Amino acid sequence: MITTQHTLKASPALTRFDFFNRLKELKDDFHNNILFKAMVNGEFTPAARDKFLFHHQFFSDQFQRLIMLRSAMCTHPQLEDIFYGHLVEELGHHKMLEAERNKISLKKDIIIEALTMWFPYQMFSTSPLEQLVIVNCGVETAALIIYHYAIPALDPEKKSEFFRIHEIHDGYHQTMGHDLLKNLTSQEYERLIAILEDTWAILNTLMARLCTLSLAD
Ligand SMILES: [Fe+2]
Repeated sequence: MITTQHTLKASPALTRFDFFNRLKELKDDFHNNILFKAMVNGEFTPAARDKFLFHHQFFSDQFQRLIMLRSAMCTHPQLEDIFYGHLVEELGHHKMLEAERNKISLKKDIIIEALTMWFPYQMFSTSPLEQLVIVNCGVETAALIIYHYAIPALDPEKKSEFFRIHEIHDGYHQTMGHDLLKNLTSQEYERLIAILEDTWAILNTLMARLCTLSLAD
């Protein structure tokens, strides 16, 4: 039976520990995505690779919009330089992918488009700290896992400059601004955990969709 006393009991205050603990859980869960299982199982033929990169191009293009918007609109005293530095290191990488990949004629996928457009759209409706979480604790942290599986499956000879440059930088990109995630209120951590969970849910759905499209006939 639920008593009045029970329903009124306050939840424990959320802390930095809860935020990073949830991030660890989301990272661990991401490894279970069907895309990575297919990559490990050797299902990515050269044709599947070309389809994967065709659709991945939409993610790369929208990430450029996100990183430019985030920097352009930031006036937060401690994050302005961090966002600008990150922009400088990412600028133009979508063109690198476009130049490298084999061009194939495919119809664009509207689900991929909708999922990837979620990222730049968030830059209009979130705080700078939330944007740090979306980009650095979300996309960049996921990128390290994505490339961990994608490079052996798609570029085992490590010829791709696009993959190589992300392999070098993304370890640092995932930790940028972490010092600013200290000493926040419980309500702020609650909001950051919510946006973190949304980000990883989008990333998981996007990777699964990339898998389905890459392996389709
Ligand atoms: Fe990066």
